[in-house]
Amino acid sequence: MGLLTVTDTTLPKQEETVTESITEFERNQKRYQELIATFPHEKGWRPKNPLIKYGGHWLIKPRIEGCLYAQEFFQARPSDLLLCSYPKTGTTWLKALIFAISNRSRFNDSTNPLLKRNPHELVPYIEIEFAFFLHIDVINNKENTLFATHLPHGLLPESVSRSSCTMVYIWRDPKDTFVSMWIFYKKQKTQDGPLNSLEESFDMFCRGFMGYGFTAEEDKEGIVDKVVNLCSFDTLKNLESNQGEKNMEIRPSSFANSAFFRKGEIGDWQNYLIPEMAARIDGLMVEKLKGSGLLEWKGEVGDWQNYPTLEMAARIDGLVHYLSPMGLLTVTDTTLPNQEETVTESTEFERNQKRYQELIATFPHEKGWRPKNPLIQYGGHWLMQPRAEGCMYAQEFFQARPSDLLLCSYPKTGTTWLKALTFAIRNRSHFNDSTNPLLKRNPHELVPYIEIEFAFFPHIDVINNKENTLFATHLPHGLLPESVSRSSCKMVYIWRDPKDTFISMWIFYKKQKTQDGPLNSLEESFDMFCRGLSSNGPYLDHVLTYWKAYQENPDQIFFLKYEKMRADPLLYVKRLAEFMGYGFTAEEEKEGIVDKVVNLCSFDTLKNLEPNQGEKNMENRPSSFANSAFFRKGEIGDWQNYLTREMAARIDGLMSVLVDVESPFKPDVFKGKVALITGGGSRISFEISSQFGKHGATVAIMGRRKQVLDAAVSDFRSLGIQPIFTASQLEQIAEILVWLLLDRGLQGLSLLLQESLISVNESFKEEEWVSSCKNIANSLASRVPRDMNCLRIVESVAGVDARSKHLRRERREFDELALMSINLKEKSCNLFRKYMMLVLSENWLLSSKLVEEKPVLRDMWAVFLRNCFCQINSTDLRPFASKVRTKASYLLQGCRSD
Ligand code: A3P
Repeated sequence: MGLLTVTDTTLPKQEETVTESITEFERNQKRYQELIATFPHEKGWRPKNPLIKYGGHWLIKPRIEGCLYAQEFFQARPSDLLLCSYPKTGTTWLKALIFAISNRSRFNDSTNPLLKRNPHELVPYIEIEFAFFLHIDVINNKENTLFATHLPHGLLPESVSRSSCTMVYIWRDPKDTFVSMWIFYKKQKTQDGPLNSLEESFDMFCRGFMGYGFTAEEDKEGIVDKVVNLCSFDTLKNLESNQGEKNMEIRPSSFANSAFFRKGEIGDWQNYLIPEMAARIDGLMVEKLKGSGLLEWKGEVGDWQNYPTLEMAARIDGLVHYLSPMGLLTVTDTTLPNQEETVTESTEFERNQKRYQELIATFPHEKGWRPKNPLIQYGGHWLMQPRAEGCMYAQEFFQARPSDLLLCSYPKTGTTWLKALTFAIRNRSHFNDSTNPLLKRNPHELVPYIEIEFAFFPHIDVINNKENTLFATHLPHGLLPESVSRSSCKMVYIWRDPKDTFISMWIFYKKQKTQDGPLNSLEESFDMFCRGLSSNGPYLDHVLTYWKAYQENPDQIFFLKYEKMRADPLLYVKRLAEFMGYGFTAEEEKEGIVDKVVNLCSFDTLKNLEPNQGEKNMENRPSSFANSAFFRKGEIGDWQNYLTREMAARIDGLMSVLVDVESPFKPDVFKGKVALITGGGSRISFEISSQFGKHGATVAIMGRRKQVLDAAVSDFRSLGIQPIFTASQLEQIAEILVWLLLDRGLQGLSLLLQESLISVNESFKEEEWVSSCKNIANSLASRVPRDMNCLRIVESVAGVDARSKHLRRERREFDELALMSINLKEKSCNLFRKYMMLVLSENWLLSSKLVEEKPVLRDMWAVFLRNCFCQINSTDLRPFASKVRTKASYLLQGCRSD
């Protein structure tokens, strides 16, 4: 047995524990250790205390040993209560509380063991005390039913779910959790070496790290208060047993009891973290908890605007990686031949390649879609080795010019098609029907990738052709060369239903000639795709980061969706050409040039061309894919032949935020407008408010609970939305409300408007109110005619006839309004989002001159709204059905055309 120095973080080495006779744990420990030695190890928060990956989580060694033991031997009983938590989220407090609650009848105010002992001595951890200290009283007390664990749910002993014992889970703002953890470790007595700096630990934390109800009588007697007081931070902290250097009595620990009571404050992180750090961690949490309901409003509604923080994090990650080069890696490319096969004169890329490889060797590696082709994390995304090398080279050497056009896409979303189209548009005057290079060469030979051809094949014609202005990339936005944003060159982004994208990708890989071993099964690849582990993944982040860039700079990026372009290629090709600065003239249109471009680049034409047949390869460079692999089916919805309903639901759930991207409105459609939202602080109202904000409106939110409003205001600010609250703005709002109330057409809303007016009036400060009151009255009196006219819009909308012929003819021109027909009964139809869209539509209708000028628009709206209205089943009780129906029917009145 012998003796050892302490290297654990919270536990002494097993040798130091009580050793009367060899324990069950000790009999098994060697086996656990052998197993653990095979798990991935990572640098931990202290030099001698690595983190070890087990079941997808990072644990320190003694915890995994304890976990394995608990998994094997802990027998949860139905009557047990398991308290589960991530460290530093309130475990001590909760231990005290559940102990006090469940033992309240056994002890009186002065005999409660909590007064003498640290809560951790009274509620044992299954992976600590149960494994290492089985001699202590609480473990031997068969009456004890309280246990605790820091293990993630997936690592819990099987007996926990089998026994259906009860669990309590506590969690906490991750920023406070992190700060609490770091400071806790600071206080640790250990020989594992110094703790990482706050910044480094923070970075690691972000990268993934690691029924006793009270009776009414008891309540009346104040027992609840007693329990709360006894367990309060102040009481426990000041108890004798938790003072100074006192230790637990039952077992050795490297933390004094007092270390468990630090400040117990909410928001103490503000004293330690800079705003960027807070933004990063919040962004991560929003992403992970999205849809879980745990984030109140945030997680439930596709809060994609938070992604800028992820992108920022990605950039920071990238920088951090740049600072720590070391090691070497062999190249295991999938779509590229090994570098040995490339042209052998030493290229600029080759001169730098070793440096890139050394750097990449320090990045996190994960199992990829083939055994010998790992995915490597760079800047928050997963890339294959050669792509990461090519990316670094492009970042360093690619000099985008203002006249360049960069085609950006996630793989298998329509890149080949887009390459063909832009090439055909751009060069239509250079070639005639028979000389077009597209007839002889695969589109990928004509438009080079900056991270492939530009890096690995600098000798090929298109790279040396200074006149070529078309480039492509699969890199996520955050990894683009800096010159792209500096040059303000234009970009086109194409994206596609993630289900079809995944299927297209998996089948594409199936066709690859490679020695990297067999491709993962469809199911396994699918799971990885959903978890973001795919080339250039996560797919979601790929789309969102470009979408965010588009929102910031709508003139620089053109967004296309594969499905929409398939439905109406002529329309989108015209728009694309326009965006490129190569718009078709009226004459060209008359001559059918647009049709020609569309036909030349159509799936059927390209697929059947000689160069894209059979086993033919690209002429200008080697590739592990035959040209024909780029043309498979080109269908929408082919995923239905491969994915189960459950799979589709999973991916749709994950990607549901992408629905936002489909907003039919331009991001500045409400620019210069003020949106007033009652109850705008919470839930659906918050989302409505933020949708207005995201579409350019200034947002005023009204509500009764100041706390909720304050929180919402700070959330808006973090989304870049400016809420308004000055007195003069409030005056304007009050005026508008009065006019809205006067208007007969809005009678259905009178209750809501009345409430708004009350809360607007309440929002004035005491000293403002008297003069504001006067201002409003004066202004109302002087503005009658104008405002009354303005409100007639609603009535004028009501008097329009249907003009379906007109509608069909004009449809394209107004396509951006996305007057899709929707089936609200379909389970996949997101009523919540539809409701948002309707609210936006309503306001747009009321405020847009277009509606007055173009009667056809009113017709179209009538169709759209009738659709919404008719298709909702009245027995459908899904949460927003009735809201959507009411809103649609209200709007329909305004658009009635029959
Ligand atoms: P499927 O695999 O679903 O058939 P990428 O070009 O980004 O690699 O995307 C490939 C997908 O686009 C494939 O989808 C492919 O068949 C389809 N595709 C290729 N050329 C096309 C074209 N000219 N028109 C429409 N789809 C095309």
